[in-house]
Amino acid sequence: MLNIIFIGAPGVGKGTQSALIEKDYSIAHIATGDMLRENISNGTELGKTAKSYMDKGELVPDSLVIDMLKARITKDDCKNGFMLDGFPRTMEQAKELSSILDSLNYKISAVIDIFASEEIIIDRLLKRGRADDNEETIKNRLKVFESQSKPVLDYYNGKAKIIKIESVGTPEEVYARIKKELDSL
Ligand code: AP5
Repeated sequence: MLNIIFIGAPGVGKGTQSALIEKDYSIAHIATGDMLRENISNGTELGKTAKSYMDKGELVPDSLVIDMLKARITKDDCKNGFMLDGFPRTMEQAKELSSILDSLNYKISAVIDIFASEEIIIDRLLKRGRADDNEETIKNRLKVFESQSKPVLDYYNGKAKIIKIESVGTPEEVYARIKKELDSL
């Protein structure tokens, strides 16, 4: 069973690589950003609250995201493996995730530390043009990543295998690097 956590800056390619892994390994893809955007489209209370944070490039409060993740990861399809794309993003989320996984008796196979230069990231995001892909919000998302999410990698030091992947080249080239590592786990 393959249980993967992606940790990487906005626009580095977490979603792109998760989609390729999903196709090859048939494991559940849990993207908290996508789940929050779905809530916004559906006009839920969670979506209304989340939007005010997402528009500014700030993190949605831990309690809301943790409850959402918990409801998703306890679903049956995750029994065959899962990858987390965009969670955990704070120390609090990482600690809560550990206790959720313990209670389900799930182990983390690997944490993928995916990285690229800020120049590459900004270029990719401005080309994509999602609602939160404007220069000001991107800059704040990058700042929030450095201060709140990158330290989560330290939490996994010694707790899980950490795979470092440089996200340069085509998506297929990046994926080949990831696949090689996953197949040797
Ligand atoms: P989220 O949706 O997770 O956004 P993000 O982390 O900012 O990541 P992106 O989706 O922008 O980038 P990605 O790394 O997935 O890259 P992608 O593959 O799409 O979160 C959005 C917001 O939701 C947060 O700011 C926060 O407010 C909230 N949120 C979500 N989770 C939360 C949590 N746990 N706690 C609190 N708040 C939370 O690629 C980007 C672009 O680059 C695409 O156009 C793609 O086609 C292109 N691309 C990718 N790889 C390559 C390549 N190799 N070559 C060329 N182009 C490429």
